Amino acid sequence: MMTPMTAVWRKYRLVGSHVVGRAFSTNNRRIVDLRSDTVTQPTAAMLHAATQATTGDDVMGEDPTVTALEHHAAELFGKERALYVPTGTMANMCAILSHCHYNKSAEMIIGSKSHINLYEGGGYANLAGVSCKQIPEDENAIFSMDDIRDSYFSDNDDHYAKSTLICLENTQNMLGGVALPASYISSIGKMAQERDMKVHIDGARIMNAAVALNTSPSDLCEGADSISICLSKGLGAPMGSILVGETEFIRLARRARKRLGGGMRQVGVIASMGMHALTNNVDRMADDHSRAQRIASELKNAGFFLPRDGQVDTNIVFFALPDNSKLMKEELPAKMFEKYGVKIAGGYSKGGRMFRLVTHMDVDDEGVDATIEGIISLCIP
Ligand SMILES: Cc1ncc(COP(=O)(O)O)c(C=O)c1O
Repeated sequence: MMTPMTAVWRKYRLVGSHVVGRAFSTNNRRIVDLRSDTVTQPTAAMLHAATQATTGDDVMGEDPTVTALEHHAAELFGKERALYVPTGTMANMCAILSHCHYNKSAEMIIGSKSHINLYEGGGYANLAGVSCKQIPEDENAIFSMDDIRDSYFSDNDDHYAKSTLICLENTQNMLGGVALPASYISSIGKMAQERDMKVHIDGARIMNAAVALNTSPSDLCEGADSISICLSKGLGAPMGSILVGETEFIRLARRARKRLGGGMRQVGVIASMGMHALTNNVDRMADDHSRAQRIASELKNAGFFLPRDGQVDTNIVFFALPDNSKLMKEELPAKMFEKYGVKIAGGYSKGGRMFRLVTHMDVDDEGVDATIEGIISLCIP
């Protein structure tokens, strides 16, 4: 059962012509939740879209709202087809199964700090049966081309599992929302093509990357064969992801979705909220980025450690406490919530020293002020 302190709902107010929501706990205390951009509550406009959705059985391909969303996404990314799935994890898994053709001697190359490697339950191995070479990313989420060359195995030797797929992550979450530019994706695509490999982008936050780099999703992802896009992160929908790629890739991905239990029926009710998010909530991400940048520069100036010397491309800020901090790292999340109503997540990398803050639709300037003031006044002597 939810306790009154943890239950959160959203109140709406009108700012100009926009309805803006804010999270409150049941005792009417304002909550600023920076643990992730997955915590947003659906907006009034999204809920309205759900009430207007026309639906059908999507396993039979008869849900017009899902079909419209898939067409829209395919066009946006300049790919032939798209597939709507419940989660980002399932989108990535369908991509791996489809690219590797259910082939148990396939291998993929992934970043050691990627979500697919760290946080998807080892699904590539235990569900897809695909082996994996993990290579390090530098602090800008870039692979060394030599590492890719060294990791590549063709199928001309019985010792080898054939390198079939390279996965990128854009934006790269665990390195701090780094946005990978189109030129880099193209160079990886070219190298993959020369070796008969495919490129998949875990694009849970690809729209953040497109906004930060001021480029269209199709230009950004031209060098990739497939992209998974989360509607439930910075775009603010309650659930859903889309996978885009060429027609045969999507046919196999659709079969994979069914095998994984992700075929849904009258899911246009939910897809309508995803469509609303993808058509209305992209440009506003620039506000999330500038709020994250403001947090980063204030914390850096106050003496906190930030990766990449405080450079923040999108909506994710990692930081560690300075040596002279008044508080221990274990104490900060509870104190922030108790005194400032701000939820933050800790325990990330470098021996669990790093905290992560993620800005999103339900965090406004006042929330950012409270966050900066709270962290600095609790930690800096
Ligand atoms: C980079 C990245 N990829 C994939 C996912 C998986 O998304 P989902 O939680 O919808 O499975 C996440 C979730 O946080 C993510 O950050």
